[in-house]
Amino acid sequence: MKLDSYTLLGRSGLRVSPIALGTMTFGTEWGWGADEAAAQRLFDLYVDEGGNFIDTADLYTEGTSETWVGRFTAARGLRERLVIATKYTYNAQPGNPNAGGNHRKNLLRALDGSLKRLGTDYIDLYYLHTWDRMTPADEVMRAMDDAVRAGKIRYVGLSDVPAWYAGRAQTLADWRGFEPVAAMQVEYSLIERNAEHEFADLATQLGMGLVPWSPLGMGVLSGKYRPSQAGAQGTQGPGGVSGTGRLQTVGPKPPPGFDKLSPRNFAIVGELEQVSHEVNRPMAQVALNWLYQKRGVASIIVGATKAAQLAESLGALDFTLAPELLARLDVASEPAHPFPYYMFADGHQSRIHGQVNVRAAPANHAHAQRVPAPTAEPT
Ligand SMILES: NC(=O)c1ccc[n+]([C@@H]2O[C@H](COP(=O)([O-])OP(=O)(O)OC[C@H]3O[C@@H](n4cnc5c(N)ncnc54)[C@H](OP(=O)(O)O)[C@@H]3O)[C@@H](O)[C@H]2O)c1
Repeated sequence: MKLDSYTLLGRSGLRVSPIALGTMTFGTEWGWGADEAAAQRLFDLYVDEGGNFIDTADLYTEGTSETWVGRFTAARGLRERLVIATKYTYNAQPGNPNAGGNHRKNLLRALDGSLKRLGTDYIDLYYLHTWDRMTPADEVMRAMDDAVRAGKIRYVGLSDVPAWYAGRAQTLADWRGFEPVAAMQVEYSLIERNAEHEFADLATQLGMGLVPWSPLGMGVLSGKYRPSQAGAQGTQGPGGVSGTGRLQTVGPKPPPGFDKLSPRNFAIVGELEQVSHEVNRPMAQVALNWLYQKRGVASIIVGATKAAQLAESLGALDFTLAPELLARLDVASEPAHPFPYYMFADGHQSRIHGQVNVRAAPANHAHAQRVPAPTAEPT
């Protein structure tokens, strides 16, 4: 599958490539990104391969990511062709609580800042970045809708919120005529499958396209990190780990979300490596291909610091993994099923259904809607 084979985002009519370009690595401010020349190469490679979906945020690299995305887009005259997504929530003004959070005042402040850095007068997809645990969903959805009507944004997205919150936001949008939520960003990969508990149903039942981030577990699923017996090149985990990259820059006490070099994750990498050998494809491609088969997934955001990494990821959807290989990866990476999810497993359900099989009709949005590939010109 090529990048110019599109998916409809949620219930909207917006067409996005099945792989989006993540630009959290655009800029060196955070110690593990790419300089401007390297970022330009990543951008050029992605758009030259036909990709149209770019992901950034006002938070990333203190604004450099948005600035470079705007600059690269303008230089190539691509504003109309690209779907540019950015996000608001994080605070860059210590001491000013209203310069962060999900509320209307901050949304409008942040939106104007993003428009300026991106050098554009509209944003295609505007995300709430992370739940602030206090602003009511009603205020967010109304403020988002106002921004759509003001022509500053085209579509609305949520990221890193609980499923109950997203369900409430979408229900409010449906009942009050607000612009609905088209996209839901979640961390989702072979090593982080907790989104499956609630977000696959949320996406398919309520019409949001799932947009997974960190699909390679920040590099773990490329296979480049290895548990090391012979002393540590890196510092994460017992006994040290070899391999260099983002996860080796965060020191012995990684912040939440960066603690990925664990024995559990290395066991998953082991099975991924076996499957990769059997299909003769790089591990990163197999990991992304597996993810694209998952219910509700619309477009996967990949990240890279080097063009060779991105080139590998962009080739991830042009082969088919046999069902038995997908099943092996599923088994190796099965997430825990804490309460209430164990109640929904087969044992309890068969007691509910009287020991017979009952199958619900498929949901309306059983999978993200994919725009049919172009057919040959009629003769
Ligand atoms: N909504 C949110 O809260 C949120 C959070 C995080 C990210 N995001 C978005 O998602 C995007 C992707 O996230 P991510 O960068 O964490 O994704 P990822 O694809 O899991 O990790 C990308 C990183 O893995 C390494 N890598 C990738 N391909 C490789 C290969 N073939 N061989 C070896 N190493 C490879 C590179 O880092 P090194 O070269 O440093 O090893 C690369 O920067 C971000 O850019 C951002 O747009 C959103």
